[in-house]
Amino acid sequence: MATPDITGGFDCDESPQARSLAERLQKQVHKAFASAGPSSQELKNLLNGTRLGEPLHVILTDVPIGAWTAALAFDALELIGGRAEFAVAADASVAIGIAGALGAAVTGITDWQDADAPARRLGMIHGFLNLSGTALFAASLLSRRRKARGVGRILGVLAYGVVTAAARLGGKMVYEYRVGVDRTARQTFPPDFVPVLADSELAEAQPKRAEHGGVPILLVRRGIRIFAMAETCSHFNGPLSEGELVGDSIRCPWHRSRFALEDGKVLDGPAVHPQPCLETRVRNGQIEVRRPLCEPAVPEPAGAAASPKPA
Ligand code: FES
Repeated sequence: MATPDITGGFDCDESPQARSLAERLQKQVHKAFASAGPSSQELKNLLNGTRLGEPLHVILTDVPIGAWTAALAFDALELIGGRAEFAVAADASVAIGIAGALGAAVTGITDWQDADAPARRLGMIHGFLNLSGTALFAASLLSRRRKARGVGRILGVLAYGVVTAAARLGGKMVYEYRVGVDRTARQTFPPDFVPVLADSELAEAQPKRAEHGGVPILLVRRGIRIFAMAETCSHFNGPLSEGELVGDSIRCPWHRSRFALEDGKVLDGPAVHPQPCLETRVRNGQIEVRRPLCEPAVPEPAGAAASPKPA
């Protein structure tokens, strides 16, 4: 049976067993992070790449892929030329790749704990394949240290095949399931002010969903200020109008990313991309928005608000 997919499609391949295993593993990862106490969110912000503004996992995966590719090249050169320098370089490259893979694994697991179907199951397989490939490279390094270089080289080639298969799934997660991609990137907002909601319908501190051209817009009134931003979360399209207001920020109801109302900045991950903000104003009793400025509007005095809209 098809599983509803919050990422925008349907996951027809996820068997109940696979789903249950992935969900149980996710819960364990959540527990492990929660055990870090109050600092767990800051740790996640670091590992997700929220503080960096880019998904950290994607950056770190370049280290093992590059190092292990170099290791295979040095192995081939050693075989052809028989020079000891190439053997040293190959072994060092394998070791550097293993160190990089550990960093990629930690960041990948951090990202994966907030992935939903179908990326969740695929991410689990991607992770298992990478761990297997890394274990094979570790065995390869051990063999090399024990002077069994032929075995070490064969294990290295096998490991490279496994991590290549894992990398293919990683690419599928990004390009097909859009994990780590800014979900608000394709949304277009009006270049000129357009009315989206009656001013009287926006209560103080009650996030509200409006819409223009089929694109949902979040409106929040805080005192004399009205904030507007993309309503769907940049992480996985969570509905921010159903989120929790935390001071002058909004927390996504799905994976608890938190965005500043002022400028859409990500205050807490797992999101790494900021929310697009809109400029707001009140005219003729209507809240109007336009892109791309991010300055919240101060409603005009009652007399001015009732005046006709300037041409
Ligand atoms: S959808 Fe994941 S934090 Fe908003």
